[in-house]
Amino acid sequence: MKTKLSLEQLNALSPVEFHKTFENVVECWPEAAIFCSAMAPFRSFESMITVFENYLQRLSNENKLRILRLHPDLAGKLLDIQQLTEESRYEQSCVGLDKLTPADKKRLTKLNDEYKQRFGFPFVICVREASKFETIVNGVSGRIKNNPEAELNIAINEVKKICRLRILQLVNNL
Ligand code: GUN
Repeated sequence: MKTKLSLEQLNALSPVEFHKTFENVVECWPEAAIFCSAMAPFRSFESMITVFENYLQRLSNENKLRILRLHPDLAGKLLDIQQLTEESRYEQSCVGLDKLTPADKKRLTKLNDEYKQRFGFPFVICVREASKFETIVNGVSGRIKNNPEAELNIAINEVKKICRLRILQLVNNL
């Protein structure tokens, strides 16, 4: 495992080092780290996380949609062909999405497809927080009933939770 950054080390990173370290805390969207690096130095890890959360919240709906569309399907094709980002692979394996029975995989794929059909973006949930396959399945089944505007907000809030856990993975927050 990589060494985790102390707050002092974090605040001493050059902008380029900061971008590289945090480039994927929002999946495949390095602009988040580029924008947030300009807010350094940070008083605490929490205040840095808040900067990322506020950044996500203030994006246009168009960019929120773009970010959601950069997320891979849970237990989807990219997992099958081992093309997930390191972070996503880790998260999906935490909940055993890489070891589903064929029946469970089929069930989740069907729900993912229905969800995508309705909203135009993949189902995103903070899987490490959901922690169980059934929670994920219930999540898609429940959220598919939301109206598109509410669902966009809910999905971006999940991106914030994923971002928080990815940041905490990189820093020494003990
Ligand atoms: N939740 C945590 N990681 C991911 C991911 O990679 N894709 C989706 N869809 N949701 C996630």
